[in-house]
Amino acid sequence: MCGIIGVTLRRGCLGGNAVPLLLEGLRRLEYRGYDSAGVALQVCEDGSCSLRVYKAKGKVEEVIARYGLDKLEALTGLGHTRWATHGPPSDVNAHPHLDCRGEIAVVHNGIIKNYASLRKMLEEKGHVFRSETDTEVVAHLLEELVASGMGMLEALGELVKLLEGSFALAILYARDPGRIYFARRESPLYAAIGECVSAVSSDIPSLLHISRDIVAVEDDEYGYIGPGTLELYRDGRRVDWRTRVKRVEWSVEEASKGGYPHYMLKEIMEQPRAVYETLVGLLEDPAAVEAAGLLAGASRVYATGAGTSYHATLVFKHFMHVYAATPVYDYISSEHEEYESVIREGDVLVAVSQSGETLDTLAAVKAAKARGARVVAVTNVVGSTLSRIADVTVYTRAGPEIGVAATKTFLTQLVALTYLAALVGRETGRLDEGDVGRIVESLRRGREAARSAERLNPHIKLLASILLRGRTRSMFLLGRLLGAHLAREAALKVKEIAYLHAEAYPAGESKHGPIALVEDGFPVLFVGTPGVEKRLYSNMEEMKARGAKVIVVGVDSYGDAPADYKLLVGSYDEVAAPYALMPPLQLLAYHLAVLQGYDPDKPRNLAKTVTVE
Ligand code: M6R
Repeated sequence: MCGIIGVTLRRGCLGGNAVPLLLEGLRRLEYRGYDSAGVALQVCEDGSCSLRVYKAKGKVEEVIARYGLDKLEALTGLGHTRWATHGPPSDVNAHPHLDCRGEIAVVHNGIIKNYASLRKMLEEKGHVFRSETDTEVVAHLLEELVASGMGMLEALGELVKLLEGSFALAILYARDPGRIYFARRESPLYAAIGECVSAVSSDIPSLLHISRDIVAVEDDEYGYIGPGTLELYRDGRRVDWRTRVKRVEWSVEEASKGGYPHYMLKEIMEQPRAVYETLVGLLEDPAAVEAAGLLAGASRVYATGAGTSYHATLVFKHFMHVYAATPVYDYISSEHEEYESVIREGDVLVAVSQSGETLDTLAAVKAAKARGARVVAVTNVVGSTLSRIADVTVYTRAGPEIGVAATKTFLTQLVALTYLAALVGRETGRLDEGDVGRIVESLRRGREAARSAERLNPHIKLLASILLRGRTRSMFLLGRLLGAHLAREAALKVKEIAYLHAEAYPAGESKHGPIALVEDGFPVLFVGTPGVEKRLYSNMEEMKARGAKVIVVGVDSYGDAPADYKLLVGSYDEVAAPYALMPPLQLLAYHLAVLQGYDPDKPRNLAKTVTVE
């Protein structure tokens, strides 16, 4: 789980120095991994070129400052941000990695599964390894193939056949000035082609300052970029990429913090616009109708995702039951093997992933497809791997999300999935056009509902400080039905960025065990969705009787709740309520993190997109 980038520039273009473009891309990739960083520059003098590598453990800015990278010049270079898989974070394990002669530099995202046997074979041939990484075998393997008489392009074709596992690779070869070689399998890789500059990278936002004309590199493709050019191959044959160019309209500004101290806060505050744009996009998207048709005709409907995206599938299940009376079998994507013997032809799997690159979710999709199921993808990234392997893709329009914690992408997933469930209800005859219209009207209220973040922010901050003053290390988050699903998502946020134990379960479960944990002052937060008020009040009383500090974040009908602390978000029906309830819950996690001095954008041990098993 890393970010890779390579940039190559024609002499005389754009200030004649690719290093600022490379470093800007690297900064934008840091969300993918931030335990180490490095660059390799190709420096040419008197007709011959050599490689210079600068790398270290630490964040991108620390590595830039350590070597004064922003003062260097080169026309061609690679960059890497690391999230360790093989070998702990260290200067030597940081990428780029070199071959024995220092002529081939490699940056890599993914995992080379057969690296141990390849390393053994290469060491027997005399190659000397410096790091503990799986990546270094690539540099030595290419050195070996080139030494056998192949050109770098041919060697790359062989390499793709020899490697097992997942990889996005960018490679610099000292003897080929101005070229960056690349190859891809499973890990994401995109190419940007400008007038006199080209780049490859793990994601699209890190390329937008270079060019908006983007080509997604597919599995087992390889090739090279030169300034303003791309050469793409598969199995030794040239691939025509020109018909695959997509013009990306995201503003670069969208990828910056926009005046907020953290991306997460900015992204929470952006939710009104994100849910609105997603709804507007969906209403005009024939893919939504196509997906609903597929779901309505399915023998059985499954839904999968990881983390936040999995929680979105639970909300989908809820609305499919209410609107379409269609059972939905949900599963966490990393558990897909549990379902492989039961999924079959005629079934439809709804796969939810903001990035569209989460390896567990892609594996679940591939397994379901292999069993004959059709796949509906819900993703935020146009052209992502998930979108390319699904039968139908419904896009959310949250824009790029930089904070590791999913916020606006969750709410936009709910818009897409609730709308989809309503369309399935219509297709199956349970709802009529008027019902769908009313659901859409409620979704429209999502925009105004999500403004609860701005209004309630000071109160949430106060609540967070009260909880921390009470030395909170553990809490329960409870709800019923839809509220239980939202509580699970809120608990994930608290764990992920505030490093506090937060457990969510349906409120009615308390008396079957968890309530034994409750003692004087133990915080229990109830997510108050409409329609379950009275039953939640009973659960609140049970908690209070055991000394719990009871907090409610609820719609206005919770005004009478027997709680110590109440945050009312406004009056909303079940469709619109999540858009009012989730932002304060996300803000609670945010303030719990910031008040403890943690960086909510880069929680420890995590990365934005998990491209390993
Ligand atoms: O890109 P995806 O939606 O597939 O990512 C899935 C999870 O890794 C992700 O939602 C994760 O749980 C979030 N960081 C939670 O905030």
